[in-house]
Amino acid sequence: MSEVRPFQVSLNLNVRGLPVSATLGINEKSNRLLREGRQVFKFGLGQSPFPVPLPVVEALQANAHQKDYLPVRGLPELQQAVAGYYQRTQHLNFQPENILVGPGSKELMFILQLAYYGDLVIPTPSWVSYAPQAHIIGHHVHWLKTSAENRWLLTPGELEKLCKQDPTKPYIVILNYPNNPTGCSYTDEELKALAEVARTYQIVLLSDEIYGELAFDGNHTSIARFYPEGTIVSSGLSKWCGAGGWRLGTFAFPASLGWLIEAMAVVASETFTATSAPIQYAAVRAFRGGLRIENYLTRSRQILQTISHHVFTRLAEIGTKVAMPQGAFYMFPDFSPLRENLAKRGITTSIDMCERLLEDTGVAILPGSAFGRPAGELTARLALVDFDGSKALAMAEKYSDQEILPDEFLQNCCFKVVEATERLCRWMET
Ligand SMILES: Cc1ncc(COP(=O)(O)O)c(C=O)c1O
Repeated sequence: MSEVRPFQVSLNLNVRGLPVSATLGINEKSNRLLREGRQVFKFGLGQSPFPVPLPVVEALQANAHQKDYLPVRGLPELQQAVAGYYQRTQHLNFQPENILVGPGSKELMFILQLAYYGDLVIPTPSWVSYAPQAHIIGHHVHWLKTSAENRWLLTPGELEKLCKQDPTKPYIVILNYPNNPTGCSYTDEELKALAEVARTYQIVLLSDEIYGELAFDGNHTSIARFYPEGTIVSSGLSKWCGAGGWRLGTFAFPASLGWLIEAMAVVASETFTATSAPIQYAAVRAFRGGLRIENYLTRSRQILQTISHHVFTRLAEIGTKVAMPQGAFYMFPDFSPLRENLAKRGITTSIDMCERLLEDTGVAILPGSAFGRPAGELTARLALVDFDGSKALAMAEKYSDQEILPDEFLQNCCFKVVEATERLCRWMET
């Protein structure tokens, strides 16, 4: 018998050479430094610092015995709770059967791109996974221009410029706000203007509102209010409910896109089958809301706003170009005004900048290039999450009526964020 060949590297062309997701990569590097005994400030991975609210944890405990496969689109009670949530918070009327539940909204985005035939359109900067997903599937990506001066927001003009080139071409446009990586959000007027372009060109719009509940003023508006017929609203438990590891995401579809949820459900049925049953039962409690969850959210927003305000102020003081976020836990400074300082140390790209910063100071941040920005632009994303969320929530109770919590709070509960910001500023200035 002839000798059996060893396994050969045989990969699909679209996957070959793709690096592991940038956020996970920096986390691995930070963990290595930690193992070497170094102090690391984890501003890399965008994970909620807050615990899952107690009523939701209790609901999960009470449903640990749920063991059956659930319907592919989701537990009917959860579909009802999600539709009720959009009715209560946004006055939107989604039919419960048009809610699709998945193991994280990231997975739902992937099967959306798989089921839908059309190019992906995203502003730059955008969250790290949209474009690689399109790449894996073999879809073309159009990056739309934004600017630091306009808080990195997509303008109707930019969207229209692309659509005008070929008005019948099918696209999926993803809008994400409060935004990862910038923390910036749109006003109602800005959303209306974007909705108008979307309607003119009959665009399928995926509105990624996973940070909606973390808008600092508690007043998030879904663009589906202005473009209900073409908007799919994406959300889940990962960010506002602190449950990234539970893996539960939701898509809410308008009736006019029934054919798309249908197709996605087919793909879901042949891949993940259904989302974990106990998690879905617990999610019912989360989406039903109530006073305890409202209080948890009010405190979370207050803490995140306080931290953002502090870091924004310090970065602005050293001359960084940076926009004050309106929500979430990110910030996207542009260190170009300090370019000369950095160039003296041989740093000319955002990747160099982040790698050297991590080595020299232990502060882990992500380069702007991971979000679709040019390599030579000195932008980076800070995820302001390296603090004890449980302790911070408990202490914030003391200052219930203050929008921005006092320095004493920052020093006690968020000392790593304060220290990392100081290290970063000093490093940038030297
Ligand atoms: C903008 C944005 N969308 C979607 C996701 C995916 O969240 P999940 O798959 O946990 O629902 C993330 C997670 O980091 C995100 O930042």
